[in-house]
Amino acid sequence: MRLLTFWTISALACQLALASVLAIDYGTDFITASLMKPGVPFDVLLNKDSKRKVSSTVAWKKGDRLFGQDAFNTGSRFPSDTFTYLKTLLGAPFDAPVVTYYTQIASADIAESARRTVDLVQSHGTKWAVEELVAMKFAYIKHLAELVANEKVTDVVVTVPPYYSQFERDAIADAIEISGLRTLAIINDGTAVAVNYAMTRTFPTPEYHVIYDAGSSGIRATVASFTTAKDPKTGAAGTHIAVSGVGYDRTTGGVELDRRMREILIDAFNAKTGRDIRQDKRGMAKLWKEALRVKAILSANTEAMAMVESLAWDIDFKTKVTRAQFEEKCKDLKSEYAKPIEEALKNAGLTLDNITSVIFTGGSTRIPMVQSAVKAAVGEDKIALNVNADEAAVLGAALYGASLSRQFKTKAIKVSDISVHDIQISYFAAATTANSRPRSITTLIFPAGSKVGAKKVLTFKRKEDFSVFLDYKFPVAPGFPTRMLEVEIGGVAEAFANLTERGAVDPVVKATLTLSDSGFVAVKDAVAYGEIKDESLTGKLKGLFGGGASSSDEATAESADNAPPRDSESSSASAASSSASASTSAAAEKEPKKAAVPVENTIPLSLEVTFPTIPPMTVEQKKTSRSRLRAIDAEELTKTRREEARNTFESYLYRLRDLLDEDNKDTPFKKCSQPRERTAIAEKLDDSFAWLSERGDLAETSQFLDKRIALETLEKPIIHRYQEIEAFPQALNNSQMWNWSTRLFLQEARTNLTNEAAADLPSKWTSLELDALEKTLREHEAWLSEWVEKQKSVKSYQDPVIETTEMKARAKVLESHLQRLWKRKVPKAVKKVKPTTTTATTEAAKETEGTTTTGDEAAGEEAPNVVDSDEQQQQIPLEEEPGHDEL
Ligand SMILES: *[C@@H]1O[C@H](CO)[C@@H](O)[C@H](O)[C@H]1NC(C)=O
Ligand SMILES: *[C@@H]1O[C@H](CO)[C@@H](O)[C@H](O)[C@H]1NC(C)=O
Ligand SMILES: *[C@@H]1O[C@H](CO)[C@@H](O)[C@H](O)[C@H]1NC(C)=O
Ligand SMILES: *[C@@H]1O[C@H](CO)[C@@H](O)[C@H](O)[C@H]1NC(C)=O
Ligand SMILES: *[C@@H]1O[C@H](CO)[C@@H](O)[C@H](O)[C@H]1NC(C)=O
Repeated sequence: MRLLTFWTISALACQLALASVLAIDYGTDFITASLMKPGVPFDVLLNKDSKRKVSSTVAWKKGDRLFGQDAFNTGSRFPSDTFTYLKTLLGAPFDAPVVTYYTQIASADIAESARRTVDLVQSHGTKWAVEELVAMKFAYIKHLAELVANEKVTDVVVTVPPYYSQFERDAIADAIEISGLRTLAIINDGTAVAVNYAMTRTFPTPEYHVIYDAGSSGIRATVASFTTAKDPKTGAAGTHIAVSGVGYDRTTGGVELDRRMREILIDAFNAKTGRDIRQDKRGMAKLWKEALRVKAILSANTEAMAMVESLAWDIDFKTKVTRAQFEEKCKDLKSEYAKPIEEALKNAGLTLDNITSVIFTGGSTRIPMVQSAVKAAVGEDKIALNVNADEAAVLGAALYGASLSRQFKTKAIKVSDISVHDIQISYFAAATTANSRPRSITTLIFPAGSKVGAKKVLTFKRKEDFSVFLDYKFPVAPGFPTRMLEVEIGGVAEAFANLTERGAVDPVVKATLTLSDSGFVAVKDAVAYGEIKDESLTGKLKGLFGGGASSSDEATAESADNAPPRDSESSSASAASSSASASTSAAAEKEPKKAAVPVENTIPLSLEVTFPTIPPMTVEQKKTSRSRLRAIDAEELTKTRREEARNTFESYLYRLRDLLDEDNKDTPFKKCSQPRERTAIAEKLDDSFAWLSERGDLAETSQFLDKRIALETLEKPIIHRYQEIEAFPQALNNSQMWNWSTRLFLQEARTNLTNEAAADLPSKWTSLELDALEKTLREHEAWLSEWVEKQKSVKSYQDPVIETTEMKARAKVLESHLQRLWKRKVPKAVKKVKPTTTTATTEAAKETEGTTTTGDEAAGEEAPNVVDSDEQQQQIPLEEEPGHDEL
């Protein structure tokens, strides 16, 4: 028992500490989500229709916001208020080709935002940033997760394609924040699948696999090595997944195939009718939906019938499409499907021979032409269909999230991922003469293939404030800018003056750049750095023990070989690093006799980050967006409540109408009501029906409640009569039972008392006490006889003269009195103490005075306290009494 309690408590404590982790595989056409929570089975989250994947759509239908399939389905009726495929717009500049492409695959109107990104415009003109609409979808998933978790869910891991740039990652992170979630990590989808793959497998000898993910918006191949080895410290086996190469194609996704399928349908319609369906937005939306359906059919069949009733201009459209026809339409893409694999292998420095398998994931891997193209390229035996194409990424992401939060006991899996774009830093060299044009210096700081989670320290020989620029070497996609950020490093002169004044020679600026685990590049900090020869005693001692000497040398050493000393400016990097290592504690220990040891000294510099191209949302903008979303949520909640109130009111009205119905004779309602009452209700009911049909659409929640209460007030007395009639027999039985039991007890007790007195034995009661009980009994009986009599003449439609609650209360008085005596124990040492009667009398007197619970205590110290709880009353051994079972 104690053990059990202990476990219960510890489990509770754990639950308080453990936050659940949500994973979202955010796809272009579908979202899947998974929740990691102790006690909740680990699986994919189901939506309200028990679907495992949710259409990645948000839509408005006559003012109601919809998600999932409901939202997607409204596309053909409300094309301008249905927002699909938003993922393609994340972080995209308004003038990028992908935005033009978007207008071909989706029906919503777009506008350029103040940030040069895309806003979506509802039919009545409301504009939403892409991030806001995506945030709505995240919030919807959050809500689903919270229903399952039965608590707030905040931490989330979201998948992105590995080729996502900083602009796109920023947009995802902003959407997460606006939705009310908190980014635990952003994980590349191929890597997430790799985690899922490793979860149930071990790799005693290292294996390479390609995760081939053919999704809606692109194809990507991720080469990863899997190695299971014992941790040298703990001895526990763990698997290390290292991504070593990625290849991708941002255009040949499933959506493009859908688009081409629709082209087939468009051509067929236009040829048949001589009209151009492209002019009809609804028709185009209907055809899109049909294209998806036909494409799915053609994955399993060689031909399919496309059919849309009243597609446009009242024309029913019907045409046969063959798989061959579809493949012909996509012929030019055939060579593209396998290319990402080749590219990924090349980037990883591997060949197909090194690869154990090509793991298929993503919805488009079901398409025969995609499958056959990849099979032809890598060999059929390499293809592995051993993960769930739709769910592996989200499950992997959830496991990854769980491992990050360190609150879950998961299999030890270490992941090292890479960034796929060349990232460089550039800055202007200090002018050598007053008139010379400043030279721009560029350094590849995180080349493609760099491990994420890396840190680099760059050293600059600058004396004034200056700016550095972080750029992609090449645009990440057509129309995307290369510049990510500009960072102005300030306070240099002042800091140098300080250092120089304290004896530093040739101070430098050191800037730390990071490439985070989620793939974000940033200038983390910048410091002015100089060595000061400390001649003081403390300085010497510090030098001796290596105090404060080597905080950043590891990172500095790293920068030495990465910042190529292409000119005098950047060659200072290696110079700085060598001097830094000279001052490490190790060096100091080797030469403890040295008089003065150089002491590092750093002064933090200010950083001012600006985004010259596509800025992420500012804190203010995100706040505003958050309130916009909250406002909608509040509005919807009000609406839901109103609808509920209206529905409840309406069904109440119908119920009342049924009760009043002439045909329903002899019902309890009729029996217990008077014609006058029924007329009053009928009148109010008519009013209410009229009000509902006239005003119901505009009325507020409170009005429905008020109207209902007004009717209920009329109905209440009738219900009460009915309930009393129902409850009366039981209450009477109860009263009579205590009446009867008490009388039985009194008879026996008096006989015993007499016998005991004759035998000079101790008694439990005095005759006074029994008299007092008898008095209570008589009062009860008298009351009962009088009012039961009166009640008999009351008609069913009249209010009762005695209430069953009062009957119960009075029976309880009698019952308690009886119990007090019944529970009494035989006094122990009565023979020694002669004047028992006097004490008992006092006690009895006390009792009749109204002290209710102290009676037993007088009789013996062993007697348990009487608590007037039902539980205790049920323990009375009144075996011979009728109705005992019903207690
Ligand atoms: C890849 O395969 C080649 C040829 O079979 C082999 O020489 C090479 O060592 C392999 N590389 C790795 C990393 O296993
Ligand atoms: C130099 O900086 C240190 C620490 O920031 C400060 O305590 C000191 O007063 C400064 N000295 C001068 C001369 O500015
Ligand atoms: C009366 O005495 C008998 C015999 O001692 C006992 O079993 C019974 O419980 C007593 N009755 C009451 C009401 O105390
Ligand atoms: C109470 O019980 C006694 C004895 O069983 C009975 O004679 C009497 O009629 C009862 N009184 C009422 C009101 O039920
Ligand atoms: C009253 O009690 C008697 C005896 O237990 C039982 O037979 C009868 O059904 C009860 N009546 C009601 C209305 O509970």
